[in-house]
Amino acid sequence: MKDQFLQVKVRTTDPEEVLARIKKAGLSPPHRRYLSGEGLLVLGYPAENLDETLRGLSRVLSFEEVEETGLAETPLPEPERFSVGPLRFFVPAEDETPAPGEIYLRSTLSFGSGRHPTTRLCLRLLTELFPEVAPETVFDLGCGSGILALSAARLGAQRVLAADIDPRAVGEARHNVEKNELSGRILVVRGSLDAAALARFDLVLANLTIGTLSALLPEIPGVLRPGGAVIVSGISTGQRGEILSTVPRAEVLREETEEGWLALALRF
Ligand SMILES: C[S@@+](CC[C@H](N)C(=O)[O-])C[C@H]1O[C@@H](n2cnc3c(N)ncnc32)[C@H](O)[C@@H]1O
Repeated sequence: MKDQFLQVKVRTTDPEEVLARIKKAGLSPPHRRYLSGEGLLVLGYPAENLDETLRGLSRVLSFEEVEETGLAETPLPEPERFSVGPLRFFVPAEDETPAPGEIYLRSTLSFGSGRHPTTRLCLRLLTELFPEVAPETVFDLGCGSGILALSAARLGAQRVLAADIDPRAVGEARHNVEKNELSGRILVVRGSLDAAALARFDLVLANLTIGTLSALLPEIPGVLRPGGAVIVSGISTGQRGEILSTVPRAEVLREETEEGWLALALRF
């Protein structure tokens, strides 16, 4: 069996002060990593003396400071890498730099880590459609971390608008856009379909819930250029008829399913 480690995430803006408290209390020094973008100090300890370590830490750290405590196979969070088709993503553990060609992606405050089937289905349809449709302009509606906007830009879209009603998602998407040096091609704004204003797009990406999609999908043709397409996700396979009934003139270009989720590429 692999060694196990105790990981304790402490919310702080002053990691040295927390470490000084631990030292002063006579506790053994932890492995440590400070995730500056998230204000988290991660402490790693071998799991053998779990009870003793937790008892010691509880004397030093307040309940409010401790964000999460758990067991892991590494003493500290590791950077992650994963691919969807030709897209390669890099999820940093600290402030590491991605390899050339990788998409840097942080999604600690927003939806859009790339692990959820609804996102992966959108990415699959996006990569399948790109050679055919080659959209110049893309609107990522409900961008979360910005994963779809970043992917569209990496695949070649020249102008991408990304909008979300959640300010935390807007902040995180902007962070990711800057880290990927795509600020010249992706604009992230707080808002919804109204963010398009008078602009028209070749492709709209909308990974939303059925309720939001049912309300917004009939309006999406109004922000598309002639011949433009929309990729919708966030619906179950059983909701196919319900969502298509909101846009009776839509032609289904492609569809993908995974674990009971469905994504559709539509043209009007
Ligand atoms: C399921 S997440 C998708 C995130 C990302 N696009 C992805 O595919 O992983 C949906 C996002 O849409 C945002 N959202 C919900 N309703 C919205 C609306 N009416 N207009 C714009 N964004 C919305 C949420 O805040 C959330 O970030």
